[in-house]
Amino acid sequence: MNPVLIREAVVADAPALVPMCGQLGYVTTAGAVEQQIRRIQSDPEGQVLVAEVAGMPVGWIHVQIRHTLHAPPYPDVTGLVVEDQHRGQNIGAGLLARAERWAVDAGFKEIRLRSNIKRERAHHFYESLGYTMDKTSLNFRKPLTGEG
Ligand SMILES: CC(C)(COP(=O)(O)OP(=O)(O)OC[C@H]1O[C@@H](n2cnc3c(N)ncnc32)[C@H](O)[C@@H]1OP(=O)(O)O)[C@@H](O)C(=O)NCCC(=O)NCCS
Repeated sequence: MNPVLIREAVVADAPALVPMCGQLGYVTTAGAVEQQIRRIQSDPEGQVLVAEVAGMPVGWIHVQIRHTLHAPPYPDVTGLVVEDQHRGQNIGAGLLARAERWAVDAGFKEIRLRSNIKRERAHHFYESLGYTMDKTSLNFRKPLTGEG
């Protein structure tokens, strides 16, 4: 089996990350992903890591420090996906471990993430890696027309 390299994302990764965003359920473009990589690269409170096999990205994770008014800041895994042909090879676990290390190095003692209730496989994955379910929430959205 080819070795897995985990490294920080670079803008040249953007086209390879687009289909994986699709596998996560988000339709996007290389241009948009490239823009986000640039933004996060310049933000010391976020990191995108890529897992590479034989020179090709096969997974990514984004961890970001969240700030709120009402609670102390915390590191939040906003997205994690491994390309479907490469699942079950400990790549997701490796990406999560690196994100956790980044959070520990930044001084945090806990990391959080939200996972859609439909992603039962991912829930087993997180539980096998020591995550426990905290609470369930509903997400609301509203289009903003600017008309009040
Ligand atoms: C969830 C996901 C990132 C896991 O990545 P992966 O590389 O396939 O997982 P790993 O091979 O690192 O699994 C690590 C451990 O998790 C556990 N695990 C993984 N998948 C599991 C499953 N379906 N059921 C139970 N346990 C599972 C195993 O214990 C495994 O350890 P093992 O070596 O003992 O088998 C990947 O399946 C994925 O991209 N899914 C689609 C997108 C998604 O749901 N992302 C999460 C959004 S919240």
